[in-house]
Amino acid sequence: MSAGDRHPRPESAARAALAPARPAPLGVRIAGTGSAVPDRRMTNADFEKILDTNDEWIRQRTGIRERRRVDTEKGESTRTLCVDALRRALDEARTDGADLDLVIVATVTGEMLCPSVACRVAAEVGAAGAGAFDVTAACSGFVYAMNIAYELMRGGTYRCVGVIGCDTMSTIIDYKDRGVSILFGDAAGAAVLRPTDDLSKGLLAQAMHADGSGWKDLYLPRAARDFPEGVEADPAKYCKLQMNGREVFKFAVRTFGEVIQQTLDQVGLQPDDVDHYVCHQSNARILEASRERFGVPEEKLYVNIDRYGNSSAGSVPLCFDELRKAGRIKDGDVVMLVAFGGGLTWASSLWRV
Ligand code: COA
Repeated sequence: MSAGDRHPRPESAARAALAPARPAPLGVRIAGTGSAVPDRRMTNADFEKILDTNDEWIRQRTGIRERRRVDTEKGESTRTLCVDALRRALDEARTDGADLDLVIVATVTGEMLCPSVACRVAAEVGAAGAGAFDVTAACSGFVYAMNIAYELMRGGTYRCVGVIGCDTMSTIIDYKDRGVSILFGDAAGAAVLRPTDDLSKGLLAQAMHADGSGWKDLYLPRAARDFPEGVEADPAKYCKLQMNGREVFKFAVRTFGEVIQQTLDQVGLQPDDVDHYVCHQSNARILEASRERFGVPEEKLYVNIDRYGNSSAGSVPLCFDELRKAGRIKDGDVVMLVAFGGGLTWASSLWRV
C-alpha cells in the first residue's frame, strides 16, 4: 500500500462511491401466469369454404385442427388480449398492476408503432409510471423478453416485471394465401416475475440468435422497397405476411436442435434433465422432429397446435400457462422455453421454476 492510498483524497473517495455496484445474488420466480385467446374459432372446415384446401391436408402437414381469430369489430386486438392475459397472471401472483415496475410486450402485431403496445397495456392494468416497451423478435419474442426481464431484475432495479407474448396473426394474413393462412392464429400469454431468496430459482441458461440474411423467408412488407430482389412488389401484399414455408421448415428443424443443445451445454445438463420442453408451436412435424432427435418422451413436450395453430409470440406463453394450470409444472422443475421465427430469430430460456 502506498502512502497516498492510506490517506485517500476526497475526490478518489467520491470516485470509489460511484463504482458500479455488484448485483447481489438474486433468485427470480414466476409468481403467476395467464393467457387469453379470442372466442371466435376458425376450423379447417371453415378454410375449406374459402380456399382450395382440405382438413386432411392441413392436419397431416401441420397438425392443426382449428385456431382462434380476434373480432376486430368487437374491439378485440393485440392490446386487449395482452391486458386480459396480464390481469390473469397478476391475479395468480396475488397482486395488481400497481406493483409492476416494468412491462414488456413481445409482438409484431401492435396496432401502432408508437406508442408501444406495452405503454397502453401498462396503463390499462394500473401500472402507469412503470417502464414499458415492446420487443420485436417475431415468434421468438416471448423467449427474448423473458431473458431480458431476468437480466434487468438481476441488476436489482426491477422487482415486479410483467412479460407478455401476443400476436393477432389474423390481422396480417391474406386469407386467399393457402400456404400461409391455415397456419396462424391469435393468442396471448403472460408471466409475472418476482425476486425470491431461493437462489435455485431463475434463469439457468439462455441463448438469443438472429440471422438477418434469412429475412426474406418470413417478412411483412409495407412498401415496394420491402420486397426481396426477384420478387415483384405487389401492393396487395402490403401488410400481409409473406413466407417461404419450405425454407422456414428446414431452418426450424435445424435451429431447434442446435439451440436446445447449446443451452443444455451451458449448464452441463442432459436432455433428460429437463422436465418440460415448451416449444413454439409452428408445425407438429417440426416439434416431432426435435422430440425424436433428443429422445424426449412425449409427455415432456407440450403440444397444443391442434387447437390454436401458430400464434407467434403468443405460442410459448400460452403453452406454459396451460401446463401450469393443468398442475403439470411442479416446484423446482426445469423448463426449457424455445422458439424460432421471422428475422430470422431463434432463442431459448432455461428456467428452474
Ligand atoms: N392446402 C392444400 N394444398 C396446399 C396448401 C393448403 N393449405 N398449402 C400449400 N399446398 C400445396 C402447395 O401448393 C404444393 O402444391 P404443388 O406441389 O402442386 O406445388 C403442395 O401443397 C406442397 O407444398 P409445400 O409448400 O411443399 O408443402 P409443405 O409440405 O412444405 O407444407 C407448410 C407447407 C407451410 C405447412 C410447411 O412448409 C411448414 O410448416 N413450414 C414452416 C412454416 C412455419 O413454421 N412458419 C412459421 C415460422 S414461425
